[in-house]
Amino acid sequence: MSARRPSLRRRALLLGGAAAAVGSGTAVAFAARDDGADGTPVTALPASAAGTESIPFHGTHQPGIDTLPAQAHAVFLGLDLRPDSGLADVRRLMRLLSDDAARLMGGRPPLGAEDPELPALPSRLTVTFGFGPGLFDAAGRAADCPAVVRELPAFPNDRLDPRWSGGDLLLQVCSDDPVPLSYAVRRLVRDARSIASVRWTQRGFNPARGSEPAGTTPRNLFGQRDGTGNPAPGAELAEAVWVRDGPEWLMGGSMLVLRRIRMDLETWDDFGRDGKEMAVARRLDTGAPVTGGTEFDEVDTRMVDERGFPVVAANAHVVLATDRTPAERMLRRGYSYDDGPTADGVPDAGQLFAAYQADAATAFVPVQARLPESDVMNLWISHVGSAAFVVPPGCAEGEFVGQSLLGA
Ligand code: HEM
Repeated sequence: MSARRPSLRRRALLLGGAAAAVGSGTAVAFAARDDGADGTPVTALPASAAGTESIPFHGTHQPGIDTLPAQAHAVFLGLDLRPDSGLADVRRLMRLLSDDAARLMGGRPPLGAEDPELPALPSRLTVTFGFGPGLFDAAGRAADCPAVVRELPAFPNDRLDPRWSGGDLLLQVCSDDPVPLSYAVRRLVRDARSIASVRWTQRGFNPARGSEPAGTTPRNLFGQRDGTGNPAPGAELAEAVWVRDGPEWLMGGSMLVLRRIRMDLETWDDFGRDGKEMAVARRLDTGAPVTGGTEFDEVDTRMVDERGFPVVAANAHVVLATDRTPAERMLRRGYSYDDGPTADGVPDAGQLFAAYQADAATAFVPVQARLPESDVMNLWISHVGSAAFVVPPGCAEGEFVGQSLLGA
């Protein structure tokens, strides 16, 4: 082992020179480093290995939102502040967790931890924080919590279970590799524990990175390409997602609506293929509209068949969900979940529907309000959990997430 050390070191140095940042939200490949307690390199991988890719924590916006494609694995954690928490506790918590997040995303353990191997290959790890109403209240800033985050309207067909709903503080932790992700979650929760307790944990996944060419729209558990209609990365996404018109402390922030949507996979599996495609108005194989064209073409809602009947039903999911005003646009950055079969062998699975938007009152709420009444997809889905959060802007080095609201 010791005979290999010098060459690994040399290699680390050489590769280290090649690593370069290429902008906010962009993955940066770093090389093997001498982080081991005795100076032994923790990893010795070419900088091109997917595990070495890291996303910068600091920036105008929080990471994990325009970090695309969405990483393959996610853990969403809803935390509750301990009942007697005040502004100083919330500040201390966010300062500590922001520091942890910056280190973990950079492939390093948090301060005071001595296990460099586990975080060493972050695989595009991101940590994103969201503030629920309870955090605003504890910080003495109740009036700053937008009404839509304080209470999302109730929608017909909601089957919400309190065990998947609400929360004072959201942690969305994502990575292409479940090992550094698991480590990050346990360290963040450990550091939060004296001030906050865990209300719920929801794990999600997307297709493995590299299973299809980069840029391919992921499939959900119905087998559909899910995300085709999302705003394109760049100006379109920025306009839909980031707050540009609102209180100063929220500029560059966003809002997250997280819905746990159970999908009835057995009845879906037994339904005919044509019906499945008509329910959404998009093909299962390619994601292209049933009215023709390729994946990123729009569905032609005016097309009629040879008898003069519309090809696409007025209550097909895409017809109802498509934005009717620019303010309705949102970025769907969801994950599938599968908690295994229930005792009677029925899948307990579905989607962690995570939508980011500048204002949930003008995006998620009106779109969701159109769906419960008539969306064909209701045959197979039910909303069983719900939470909404303000996502503060990103922070600069030396600052913490939420500082613009909470003060230093
Ligand atoms: C388990 C539940 C759901 C499933 C399986 C699902 C599936 C899909 C699929 C397959 C598409 C077409 C491809 C695409 O553009 O991504 C789509 C589009 C869309 N869905 Fe959903 N969806 C679900 C719930 C929701 C909810 C709750 C909302 C919002 C309240 C929503 C909003 C949208 C939007 C905005 C589009 C894009 C429409 C466009 O083309 O402009 N979906 N969904």
